[in-house]
Amino acid sequence: MSHEYSVAVVVGSLRKDSYNRQVARALSELAPSSLSLKIVEIGDLPLYNEDAEANAPEAWKRFRDEIRGSDAVLFVTPEYNRSMPGCLKNAIDVGSRPYGESAWGGKPAAVVSVSPGALGGFGANHAVRQTLVFLDMPCMQMPEAYVGGAANLFDDAGKLNEKTRPFLQTFIDRFAGWVKLNRAV
Ligand SMILES: Cc1cc2nc3c(=O)[nH]c(=O)nc-3n(C[C@H](O)[C@H](O)[C@H](O)COP(=O)(O)O)c2cc1C
Repeated sequence: MSHEYSVAVVVGSLRKDSYNRQVARALSELAPSSLSLKIVEIGDLPLYNEDAEANAPEAWKRFRDEIRGSDAVLFVTPEYNRSMPGCLKNAIDVGSRPYGESAWGGKPAAVVSVSPGALGGFGANHAVRQTLVFLDMPCMQMPEAYVGGAANLFDDAGKLNEKTRPFLQTFIDRFAGWVKLNRAV
């Protein structure tokens, strides 16, 4: 099937059984046919160091190319200590450089935070949103997606529970509209 828009999904957890990764996969399955979601891996990115730009690591180049090649970006992240995990901030920083050559600029974005806790990663969600201002990425404001109770989202067979599915469906449908609107300008 051909899709109109490719969406780079950046997951802020490196954990094999990550709830966030599971939600990212669920969003990919629920996405309307206009969107094609693909997780862009961040676990191999060396910590950002400006001194390394002269001979940039292959993993940085691969990541920047994948972001540049996408039409939009969806961040799906846990909360660490009321903010975003270091691996995600590192990926954001890597993609933003070299100076003047940011891979992020202008790409429509949205943020989903997922936590086993009741607050649904609100702090992480807004930490990411704060960076999107400076990255010059138009971020979908509504619906907000603070997904709590992550340990109960999926059954043993990996099926998404029926209470959460309609919310994620609405979210990804609205995001498809947001991507279309912002790619048209
Ligand atoms: C260093 C660290 C800090 C954490 N801080 C928070 C926090 O501030 N808020 C929260 O809701 N959960 C916090 N957690 C718990 C995570 O939400 C939980 O580990 C979650 O499963 C991580 O997402 P994942 O399943 O996608 O890896 C923290 C976990 C770690 C490892």
